[in-house]
Amino acid sequence: MREYLEIEGGYSLSGEIVVSGAKNAVLPALAATLLAPGRYRFTNWPRLRDLCTMLELLGHLGARVEVRGEVLEVDTSTVEGMEAPYELVRRMRASILVLGPLVARFGRARVAMPGGCPIGKRPVDFHLRGLERLGARITLEHGYILTRADEGLRGAEIVFDFPSVTATENLMMAAVLARGRTEIHNAAREPEVVFLGEMLRAMGARIEGLGTDHLIIHGRNELSPPPAPLSIIPDRIEAGTYLMLPGLIPAEITLVGAEAAHLETPIARLREAGLEIEVEGNRIHARAGGRLRPLRLATAPYPGFPTDLQAQIMALLTRAQGLSFITENLFEKRFQHVFELRRMGADIEVDERTAVIRGPVMLQGAEVEATDLRASACLVLAALSAEGITRIYGLEHLDRGYEGMEKKLRALGARIERKRYEGPASFGPCGPGSGG
Ligand code: UD1
Repeated sequence: MREYLEIEGGYSLSGEIVVSGAKNAVLPALAATLLAPGRYRFTNWPRLRDLCTMLELLGHLGARVEVRGEVLEVDTSTVEGMEAPYELVRRMRASILVLGPLVARFGRARVAMPGGCPIGKRPVDFHLRGLERLGARITLEHGYILTRADEGLRGAEIVFDFPSVTATENLMMAAVLARGRTEIHNAAREPEVVFLGEMLRAMGARIEGLGTDHLIIHGRNELSPPPAPLSIIPDRIEAGTYLMLPGLIPAEITLVGAEAAHLETPIARLREAGLEIEVEGNRIHARAGGRLRPLRLATAPYPGFPTDLQAQIMALLTRAQGLSFITENLFEKRFQHVFELRRMGADIEVDERTAVIRGPVMLQGAEVEATDLRASACLVLAALSAEGITRIYGLEHLDRGYEGMEKKLRALGARIERKRYEGPASFGPCGPGSGG
């Protein structure tokens, strides 16, 4: 039995949305529990399919997981396994995050090599070269990355060609248990990387330069679980997605539990497009402020405009008066949503890495297929503003990264329902675990 979302567009929305904990923060934090045996507690964790996949992987390695009320507890005292099987890696590329911690703690790891992916090639060469710099020996066998560091890892200088988020996280986790000092140049500065660094510090790690592109890590012999529960930071991509609503339909919304400091660029660009956005502590109010203006934007690593909001802002720009240009600089195939938006009546041309959106267009409801996580969110936004009914298939992507999206939108007044139908599952080349 498969599911689809049925959305009747055109209804105005108002009310509050509580922002969930960040998917991209909880995944590395869970991987970090492998660095030291013991009990870890997390609050504000999002109920998402990717989180379940990571917990399944930790369980496979021997960890015990328990939910006590609002607290997620992971006990890694009994971890003995060192293998991340293909079945889990194909579901979620972020499974690669266990590689650094496993090899740092046990001196070896066997992790399935992630395959191709609907949004681009997404190689893991930075992760592997970085681990080699730390003294690991890496071989590829039967689709698995075998990593060994019989004498343990030792500190080194690592220079990334590009500030990769998960590669920075993987190497930071490996370096905290390496002998001596590691420097990472051109490191990612995303809030999720900083959050992981703070968790590692709470475990006894010595890390300097968090939030900059130059990290200095002084390795320790051992770490221990943080003494207090860790509250997962709010999901800036989820928040940014909902912030677009007033540009698409008459809407006045308040995000609760958001972190505006993590959303500076998206908020600035949305204001430029004509939205009225006010920040009051951890609440962000947004409403339309007249006619929507077109934008010219390019995705970039943090603090630039996030690639994970590119598809959503494209839906919004179909409503803007004039020509908008979006250049995607991170993932070469991350324009799959364009084809579906066109089926809803959007006027979008793609030239290599740049999409040109001509607006305003009144989108029409249609049957569409979500091809990756953020494309799914783009289609939900488009459907809410469209005339008539839209059916969105491929919900396995949406469920990976948006907690309770239908419920949150319904509470604002949206007509949105999940329905079931008989049909074969159709997973892309890297399974439902791709795309963000
Ligand atoms: C993370 C996020 C994802 C987001 C992306 C970019 C998680 C779990 N996922 O993914 O939601 O879209 O950052 O903000 O946090 N690259 C290489 N070799 C490597 C690694 C990366 O060439 O070894 C390239 C990638 O192909 C891409 C760029 O570097 O072009 C950035 O990717 P990266 O930051 O690594 O993305 P992820 O960490 O996979």
